[in-house]
Amino acid sequence: MQFDTIILGAGAAGMMCASRCSGRVLVLDHAKAPGEKIRISGGGRCNFTNMYAGASNFLSQNPHFCKSAMARYTQWDFVELVDRYGIDWHEKTLGQLFCDGSAKQIVSMLLSEMDEAGAELWLLSSMKDLRKTEGGFALEVDREGKRISVTCRNLVLASGGKSIPKMGATGIAYDIARQFDLPLIDTRPGLVPFTFSEDRFKPLAGVALPARLSNARTSFGEALLFTHRGLSGPSVLQISSYWHEGETVSVNLIPEMGLFEKLREQRQISGRKDLVTVLAHHLPGRLVDHLRVEFDIKGKLADQSDVKLQALCDQMSSWALIPSGTEGYRTAEVTLGGIDTNALSSKTMETKTVPGLFVIGEAVDVTGWLGGFNFQWAWASGHAAGTAI
Ligand code: FDA
Repeated sequence: MQFDTIILGAGAAGMMCASRCSGRVLVLDHAKAPGEKIRISGGGRCNFTNMYAGASNFLSQNPHFCKSAMARYTQWDFVELVDRYGIDWHEKTLGQLFCDGSAKQIVSMLLSEMDEAGAELWLLSSMKDLRKTEGGFALEVDREGKRISVTCRNLVLASGGKSIPKMGATGIAYDIARQFDLPLIDTRPGLVPFTFSEDRFKPLAGVALPARLSNARTSFGEALLFTHRGLSGPSVLQISSYWHEGETVSVNLIPEMGLFEKLREQRQISGRKDLVTVLAHHLPGRLVDHLRVEFDIKGKLADQSDVKLQALCDQMSSWALIPSGTEGYRTAEVTLGGIDTNALSSKTMETKTVPGLFVIGEAVDVTGWLGGFNFQWAWASGHAAGTAI
């Protein structure tokens, strides 16, 4: 069977690409449904893009690489598509756009777009063999137990990264990259909770508060959540993408709270109260209980000099923690690293050394922050390849 283009992966990038390609297009996926990550994303409401998406929201060895595709297919282009399908949406926070209804609306929209473009979709289909031919590629595909030989001029790798193997992530794009001698940037889990040894934060599981997490590279101020195994919440997921094993993360538990001034004022009115009691008016009680031991907090408020109060606030605003690790690919929202952007044209996403071979989406070494940026990259890179084909 002959196709002009075969797209490996019916995820966000693959479906967008298929809807933009001309010629006879086949999308292959080993899963039983397309766009599974879209379906479960954003708590079932899909944070499909971000109003403020720009190159500074992405990690890559080449921070400029994403600019071209993102400029030619912006967040507003995707919003226009969503509007055209009558899908209602809202901004949740920080420019993050979510469906009012269900993420399934986004999957249906992309399937309709693919249909309109005449693309074929084979589910429960895995690639068993891949060869370069003179005019393109020859693939052996196992489709629901049947072996089928297919050929194509263009092959698009849209099979994502390694995150959440339970949902079908395989890292096959990296294997194909090795087969064709494409350079790879080491992969690691991103947007992932931190773990700590010895159940350090177990008694705090469920405690949430606004916090700012920083390291030598960057800083994020959003919610922090203590879990049975460590730390999660948006601020943690964000900084995890900038963290390497063994490094310290500085946690500010009192950002923009003016705690020092507040404690000084309260010292005038309620100096006879215990410091911990007063602190519990400003921070979750269970956390104060934990910090009491950790920072040796004791005594009446009246007994605290300005120097002592300042020292306490300094401790609380720069709590140095060294995670023992992360939850790994099991729960990571994305995979950092991947196929080196040096190997690709930023305009078309075609590889420079293998004509007709394209790479899009998460398989590329372009990883977004939490907040709709990863989908925007999937749409933009899928559009770039699709319109080039
Ligand atoms: P994607 O993973 O979407 O698709 C890859 C496809 O390839 C899958 O259908 C898979 O089955 C298929 N495949 C893999 N290996 C194969 C093989 N060997 N043979 C055949 N097919 C194969 N981002 C965002 O912007 N907003 C959000 O709200 C969220 N929320 C979110 C929640 C959760 C729980 C996760 C895990 C991730 C997110 N993300 C997100 C990230 C986002 O889902 C991700 O970046 C994109 O889906 C990447 O799109 P791709 O098309 O590159 O890969």
